[in-house]
Amino acid sequence: MIDAPLGIVLAAGLGTRMRSGTPKVLHTAAGRPLVLHVLDALAAVGARPVVVLSKESEAARAVLPEGTAVVTQDPPRGTGDAVRAALAGCPDAKGAAFVVYGDTPLVRPETLRALAELRVARGAVLALLSGEVGTDNVYGRVVRAENGDVQRIVEARLASDRERGLPESNLGAYAADLAWLRKAVGGLRANETGEIFLTDLVQVAVADGKRVVAHRTADRDEGRGVNTRVELAAVEDVLRRRIRERHMLNGVTFHDPASSLVDASVELAPDVVVERGSVLEGATRVARGTVVGPYSILRDTTVGERCRIEASVLEGATLEDDVRVGPFSHLRPGAYLERGVEMGNFGEVKASRLGGGTKMHHFSYVGDASVGRRVNIGAGTITLNYDGVRKHRTEIGDDAFIGSDTLLRAPIRVGTNAATGAGAVVTKDVPDDTLAVGMPARGIKKRERRAPPDRSMGER
Ligand code: UD1
Ligand code: CA
Repeated sequence: MIDAPLGIVLAAGLGTRMRSGTPKVLHTAAGRPLVLHVLDALAAVGARPVVVLSKESEAARAVLPEGTAVVTQDPPRGTGDAVRAALAGCPDAKGAAFVVYGDTPLVRPETLRALAELRVARGAVLALLSGEVGTDNVYGRVVRAENGDVQRIVEARLASDRERGLPESNLGAYAADLAWLRKAVGGLRANETGEIFLTDLVQVAVADGKRVVAHRTADRDEGRGVNTRVELAAVEDVLRRRIRERHMLNGVTFHDPASSLVDASVELAPDVVVERGSVLEGATRVARGTVVGPYSILRDTTVGERCRIEASVLEGATLEDDVRVGPFSHLRPGAYLERGVEMGNFGEVKASRLGGGTKMHHFSYVGDASVGRRVNIGAGTITLNYDGVRKHRTEIGDDAFIGSDTLLRAPIRVGTNAATGAGAVVTKDVPDDTLAVGMPARGIKKRERRAPPDRSMGER
């Protein structure tokens, strides 16, 4: 059996140019720490990752998938030293290796695969990813020999004017023969900067009569590294665009795509429409035919089919099919809206279930409640769920009619087909089929049961 290639991720650097208390590789792009984007690409090519951290970047360990191998480079003495540390931590690894910089999150699996194939096809010990990305940057320049092999990489700041003007840069992803790499990094020494450069491996190989080749990507963005927050923003922009394009090719419409932000983790079904200015984050899933936005935020929220969510904020909420929300509503964690619920403007729902067909159209707060089906929640209704010490629950039965401006002091139950009058302050349970009015409200008469006008909504 062939060993899975080793995937070495360099993430021990200080990231000084970020001017941050947070390690560079923990900064997020498209909702995901940089280092995880790199790990995703390595996972997609079946590599076994080993992440190099330092004392300064140790906090990154917390976001790594469980079981990820980590080695500590202490102190960080350069990219070559980091690879040496990684290999010292994996003495038994054999076969091939990838080396990817943790601050280069746009490298794609296809490209890593091409890099590995090129190395083998050319009989080289090392293949590196290069690109023509202009000369106004800090990348290492790729110096090629007559036959096209790579002869040397020279960092822009150490390069002669002629070298700095070379069109091709080193983008920070490598495929190597592991046995050779192990031997070669052992022989690297600190150069004039005092650091041990991985890039000096090229000269080591050439001096030893071995081949180094470069795979030049046509995608100018792929090698973008993050050293400053300006570069972080540029990388994020590319990631966001890639994510939106993936969804569009899968059948999602974006109106004014650049104005909406979708995290890498979000799932959108075909025929979802994302209107301008919408932000979809975390474990959010949206089913077919739903229109999100304009101007909505969905965080860790599940939405059924054919829903309409306009200018609202939904966090940790679940919506069944055919639900309407907004404009200007707020669903907080544990909000569950069954089929056909309508929530209008200035409504807030937290840790509550609203039964099918229930309507809550204007300025209401429903917290820690379970509301039946086909309930009408009048304008200004509030569940008083908090007594200053504890939270209490409110229960409202099917077909209840809560009059405008009702205050429901929890714990409380409003019965099936019960009703409250406008402005009622309800401090005692309202029995089934009873109208309660006043402050505090008391039962005054029996109510007739009648068939609701539309039975189709909320029946399951
Ligand atoms: C490096 C390359 C340069 C290339 C560029 C592409 C070297 C010497 N130079 O430069 O040719 O054009 O990337 O983006 O390799 N790291 C460690 N331990 C260390 C030092 C760095 O793990 O001791 C990690 C950093 O966390 C970072 C990555 O290695 O993720 C690259 O280091 P960085 O200092 O950013 O290198 P560049 O100057 O960008
Ligand atoms: Ca860098």
